[in-house]
Amino acid sequence: MNQSIDSHLYTLGRIAETKRMFTAIQTATNHQKNLCLVITSGARGEGKTTTATGLAIAATDSRRRRTLLVDYNWYAPAVHHFFNIDPIESPAAFYKAASLDELIVPTVSGIDILPAARITDDFHGTLSISKGYDHRLIQDAKTRYDTIIVDTSSTFPENQRMRDPILLSSIADGVVLVFMTNRTPRSTLKRTVTAMRLSGAKLLGVVANQWKNPIRH
Ligand SMILES: Nc1ncnc2c1ncn2[C@@H]1O[C@H](COP(=O)(O)OP(=O)(O)O)[C@@H](O)[C@H]1O
Ligand SMILES: [Mg+2]
Repeated sequence: MNQSIDSHLYTLGRIAETKRMFTAIQTATNHQKNLCLVITSGARGEGKTTTATGLAIAATDSRRRRTLLVDYNWYAPAVHHFFNIDPIESPAAFYKAASLDELIVPTVSGIDILPAARITDDFHGTLSISKGYDHRLIQDAKTRYDTIIVDTSSTFPENQRMRDPILLSSIADGVVLVFMTNRTPRSTLKRTVTAMRLSGAKLLGVVANQWKNPIRH
């Protein structure tokens, strides 16, 4: 497996803004050890994976915190592309693993990755998971990592085939909400914040991504 760091990843690691974001998150969580963060957004394509990966790099650079980056956006996985690794072959392989060790991929960046499970087009099962399963997984990861960053899908539109970002948010220590300036409708942002609050999630902050995607405009 070729694990060279691509130039995109290298650039992300050099952005001062992500370092500032991670420092602000540490302050907001009282420099808590074993921190689990969920990254989500109101709608698709707003910069979640970019933010999650940037924060994972900043966390690893920060006093060499042991960092796990989890790709829970099985519907549109992207983390494995950034790190040039393979996804887990199927949801079944994910669920039958005896421990995290069977699933986690160490990378040359210093970040360990729990990749998404590959879903084939003919997969019609639901990915709704029990709160208990993810709770255990995160608790287990917390015994090994200082920082766990979970990249998720957007909260809207809701989709049965996605792992539920609201549910994941309620079991994390904090949530970072990404939105794209001038693109995400205010109503979507409000709905997302309300859903988070109702589920008991701790919203740490909102990242205003000002990048204008030429393809999407
Ligand atoms: N601030 C930014 N600067 C440059 N490219 C960006 C920025 N934010 C997002 N992108 C690009 O936009 C696309 C979607 O971003 P991504 O992080 O994958 O969003 P999401 O995970 O929310 O779908 C990717 O190709 C990513 O490289
Ligand atoms: Mg993504």
